[in-house]
Amino acid sequence: MIQIAVLGYGTVGSGVVEVIETNQESINKKAGQEINIKYVLDLRDFPGNPIQEKIVHDYEVIANDPEIQIVVEVMGGVEPAYTFVKRALESGRCVCTSNKELVAKHGPELMAIAQEKHCNFLFEASCGGGIPIIRPLNSSLTADVLDEVSGILNGTTNYILSKMESDGSSFEAALKDAQERGYAERNPEADVEGYDACRKIAILSSLAFGHHVDYEDIYTEGITKITASDIKCAKVLGYRIKLVATCKQVKDQYYTMVCPVMVDGEDPLYGVNDVFNAIFVHGNMLGDAMFYGSGAGKRPTASAVVADVVDAAKHLNCTVMQKWSSQKLNLMDVSQVTHRYFVRMEGSLTRDIDQVESVFGQVRPAGVPDLSQEFCFVTKPMTEKEYEEKAAKFGTILNRIRVR
Ligand code: NDP
Ligand code: HSE
Repeated sequence: MIQIAVLGYGTVGSGVVEVIETNQESINKKAGQEINIKYVLDLRDFPGNPIQEKIVHDYEVIANDPEIQIVVEVMGGVEPAYTFVKRALESGRCVCTSNKELVAKHGPELMAIAQEKHCNFLFEASCGGGIPIIRPLNSSLTADVLDEVSGILNGTTNYILSKMESDGSSFEAALKDAQERGYAERNPEADVEGYDACRKIAILSSLAFGHHVDYEDIYTEGITKITASDIKCAKVLGYRIKLVATCKQVKDQYYTMVCPVMVDGEDPLYGVNDVFNAIFVHGNMLGDAMFYGSGAGKRPTASAVVADVVDAAKHLNCTVMQKWSSQKLNLMDVSQVTHRYFVRMEGSLTRDIDQVESVFGQVRPAGVPDLSQEFCFVTKPMTEKEYEEKAAKFGTILNRIRVR
């Protein structure tokens, strides 16, 4: 029997208990022995809940119990998670976590400790919720040289943007709904300002390209400036707005960005709605592959965490290979990255289009019936720097969104 401890009995932690209880027989079979939750660490008590008999409030109880072989960290935040995880790995215990903040900040160090101590630091649930993506990057796509990993990596923002588009929900109402469904981070600023997607693309690109991508080096824009008017214009032009995280090779450099992007009906991300995420990978032999599924929520995330527990149980005294060097990936300046841009502007299409085209060159213009004082257009491809220089000639731009 393998005794495990779960740190945190919130959305994901309670999901982990539910998954292990519900699928006990099949999980034990796959792990090769019985998985038993001995302790659940939380700040609160849960009177009346059967979990109460396993609740402890002091990590020392877990740290000092030699029976515990696997620690599941699902508390979130950097501290005390980092201290607890490091101690567990240093004592040779495996750790499985859904905490992308921890992985993005301390991943290489924690993996190195795991390697030294012949145990495992596993974090499948840290990216894409229930979608298997870390294991495929580590074990399945090893024959390829990858040059792109990108996609929709945050369930909360995709849910908000989908609700705003499909039923005209306000940003605030859609966010509240996402929080009630257990999708959002404790501080939802991490979702809506793009920080969560930024940490996830840092993790995925570090694994995909084998060099460290520091999340603090990633250009990040969230969805808080997206308005109902942008969504109306996008619809007229045949687009949907998605928060997309990208890491892509351009010659011998890579660029990485997180920002709202307009995608058309031909784009595989167009149909990725609600809480779903999709991660696109391109390899020199494989070509395109896309991983799709529930990007957040109690059961999908817990499913990924428990899959890591099974993997850890199968590899108790050996480290599953993960390649994440602490040497940094060579990132290019985003001002040199090329996109087309959707621009929404104050004014009148018939009156102002000549001036717009004299600055931006030929554009694809559109008027929006509901927005009589505004119009919008899509530019030809240009670098971020070129766009900024041209846009500075107008004082009437209300928003700009990159177009894929
Ligand atoms: P919750 O806030 O729902 O749960 C966290 C739990 O941990 C709470 O019960 C909290 O107690 C407890 N906790 C926090 N600090 C401590 C501490 N110092 N000691 C003991 N217990 C503590 O978060 P989630 O379950 O949603 O998320 C957990 C982690 O998983 C985060 O890193 C998150 O980013 C990640 N994640 C979440 C997903 C989701 O869909 N929700 C999906 C993928 C990853 P209390 O409430 O009393 O503070
Ligand atoms: N808050 C995150 C999201 C949870 O909405 O995607 C999953 O990592």
